[in-house]
Amino acid sequence: MPQKISVIGTGYLGATHAAAMAELGFEVIGLDVVPAKVELLSQGVAPMYEPGLEEILRRHVVGLPGSSGRLSFTTSFAEVAAFGDVHFICVNTPQRAGEYGCDMTHFDSAVESLAPHLDRPTLVVGKSTVPVGSAARLARRIAELAPAGEGAELAWNPEFLQEGFAVRDTLHPDRIVVGTTSERAETLLREVYAVPIAEGTPFIVTDLPTSELVKTAANAFLATKISFINAMAEICEVADGDVVKLAESLGHDERIGPKFLRSGIGFGGGCLPKDLRAFVARAGELGASEALQFLREIDSLNVRRRASMVELAREALDGSLLGKRIAVLGAAFKPDTDDVRDSPALNIAGQLHLQGAEVTVYDPKAMANARAVFPTLRYADSAIEAARGAHVLLHLTEWREFQELDPETLGEVVSRRHILDGRNTLDATLWRKSDWTLRALGRPRA
Ligand code: UGA
Repeated sequence: MPQKISVIGTGYLGATHAAAMAELGFEVIGLDVVPAKVELLSQGVAPMYEPGLEEILRRHVVGLPGSSGRLSFTTSFAEVAAFGDVHFICVNTPQRAGEYGCDMTHFDSAVESLAPHLDRPTLVVGKSTVPVGSAARLARRIAELAPAGEGAELAWNPEFLQEGFAVRDTLHPDRIVVGTTSERAETLLREVYAVPIAEGTPFIVTDLPTSELVKTAANAFLATKISFINAMAEICEVADGDVVKLAESLGHDERIGPKFLRSGIGFGGGCLPKDLRAFVARAGELGASEALQFLREIDSLNVRRRASMVELAREALDGSLLGKRIAVLGAAFKPDTDDVRDSPALNIAGQLHLQGAEVTVYDPKAMANARAVFPTLRYADSAIEAARGAHVLLHLTEWREFQELDPETLGEVVSRRHILDGRNTLDATLWRKSDWTLRALGRPRA
């Protein structure tokens, strides 16, 4: 195991990757340009909530009692370049403000800061999701800037981890895809991933553009699957069908499969929505707009879910939101994360508030992040506190804690027993047994 590994960018992706590489036995240095994050990580504290991450950090961060000492963090690119044989770049690539395209500023600046220090043969590996064609451009730039010239190579290795399962997905990926331009790069990456490869994880070697495309195509496909079932929910709504039964029945067809067929208020987060838009924008730049025209529809169908939920709440409140008390259960874009980026739950809470309702939000982990984005909403410390006096309850993020709520106990504190299930995961029979009116998009009324 010869390589020393560096990981640049310590968000959900980078912090997990760095910790996982240490867990696999490598010596690892993680870099972030935000000193506060480096400080936290150096104490074995994850800057975000991700199940299992702190356990591995504590097992490996240098200087912590009983740790392997294989993992350290820094803000210095010179240190990283001197240390690592393989440099993974994991910085975020958000949506450009006011546009569909991908903002490559962080990635470009990581390359500009790292490459001038690369004075010996080395491999830089891009992990972030980027517009196809970026890798080829960046490979040229690295060779231009690095004292090692062509000896400083670039490979691409997209990451498919899901927040909430980041540790599992990184240590036991379902596939490893690498885009390379040399055998040397492939050999190095086979060494890095020797453990999962030995466990039987498929290792797919391809060219740079294909490896970039695999990631955007995967996210576009997942988004399409979700919007497909949400389109079926719209049909069920007008045809008195039940989208949950429909999805269950479709899922038994092995060619379709049950995953990502859960209808509700749609997809959000830091990845699916912006990747979809960046993909559309990139196709336009490449002169292939028509090929991805349908993704615009997938996106607008998804955004429409949020508006439909607001309308369902208005309907539940007899046509007016003004001055009505609404309890919102969930702020994170999905359970088991504190991430509120483009969260459907928080977006709906915000819309209801802006239209005159008095909205109180509770989320098991995402309260601080939600407050930072929407300081004008009210926040409660528990589901029951949020529900106190509410005219309607909205279940918008399917945390396990909410599945286990007792409808009877909650019924005692609300003004009206009315709940809207935005995720289609509550046991409707149970709630209705306790005299709750339960409504969900695309499901029968009673
Ligand atoms: C997504 C992909 O699933 C990962 O493979 C990918 O690596 C990651 O983006 C990324 O690009 O980094 P993530 O954003 O963590 O992962 O979230 P998902 O689990 O995909 O969920 C996305 C959204 O879809 C959530 O808001 C979730 O509530 C929603 N969703 C998911 C549904 O509405 N219905 C479903 O059936 C499944």
